[in-house]
Amino acid sequence: MIHNSIIEAIGNTPLVKLNRVTEGLDLTVAAKVEYLNPGQSVKDRIAVKMIDDAEKEGLIKPGGTIIEGTSGNTGMGLALVAAVRGYKCIFTTTDKQSPEKINLLRALGAKVEVCPTNVDPEDPRSYYSVAKRLSEEIPNSYYPNQYDNLSNLQAHYETTGPEIWEQTEGKITHYAAGIGTGGTITGTAKYLKEQNPNIKVIGVDSVGSVYKHYFETGEFSKDEVKPYLTEGIGEDLIPENVDFDYIDDVVQVNDKNALTMTRKVAEKEGLFIGGSCGAAVYGALEYARNARLGKDALMVVILPDSGTRYVSKIYNDDWMREHGFLDEVND
Ligand SMILES: Cc1ncc(COP(=O)(O)O)c(C=O)c1O
Repeated sequence: MIHNSIIEAIGNTPLVKLNRVTEGLDLTVAAKVEYLNPGQSVKDRIAVKMIDDAEKEGLIKPGGTIIEGTSGNTGMGLALVAAVRGYKCIFTTTDKQSPEKINLLRALGAKVEVCPTNVDPEDPRSYYSVAKRLSEEIPNSYYPNQYDNLSNLQAHYETTGPEIWEQTEGKITHYAAGIGTGGTITGTAKYLKEQNPNIKVIGVDSVGSVYKHYFETGEFSKDEVKPYLTEGIGEDLIPENVDFDYIDDVVQVNDKNALTMTRKVAEKEGLFIGGSCGAAVYGALEYARNARLGKDALMVVILPDSGTRYVSKIYNDDWMREHGFLDEVND
């Protein structure tokens, strides 16, 4: 079979059992390996859906410019779609992101504006604000806004959810995913709970993000916001794509546990993953341990992206040592 373009190769990623990092636990944990998408992340799914929907609604015209605030993965997905369909791309990102991610976007022909990380989202220098401003200034441009664009969660409702349901033959009991924009967890959970309302959904958050406190108290607290190194999950705002009605529990993971687990999964499972994947696995296993899940449980955990984007950070011993994480890696 010949695909008409690389866009048709998005999705249908494999579900792979974790065997060694789950030692001491009886449940089955299966990982949805999203780095096997053409852009090496889960975000390919939402990129094509957001652009498809924008084209249908006439929000983007041939030759137009796609502008987005992205930590890299959504940019990569959008850049692939733009390359195939002849759009230009401008991305804003933060100075916390790996240089690999920024160079990758530039390699696909996109322009990238690097903005400061530690400013409020409303600050005119933030990567959200700069993306918004550029989209107002540049004619025939489209700002997908993955945070509040519900095509994001819809992409997961239409693809990730059904794939997991079919791949587990309906036997999934627990679903764990990091919460960034919230699209992955909300869209997938909505589909899965429609098939079986007893499926438990576990959101994985970073220490330094607002989600866990918001989930537990219903209050948005700026006091929770602290800098952290794990890229892609946790927020300092509540995007439209997060719907806590579909989330049964939220586990917070710190950088040390997330990033050492990332290396462990690569070393023990042969899965070369990014840092938010390590956080998701750590959070999923911690939940399984605390809930005493036994052999009847089948947990699916999402691995959003690839280790290739973190070679100079998580997979660099000097960088890990600087942050005091290396001893755990050598355990
Ligand atoms: C590396 C990485 N992991 C996880 C996520 C979280 O997925 P979502 O935005 O669908 O909540 C993102 C999203 O930005 C990401 O880039």
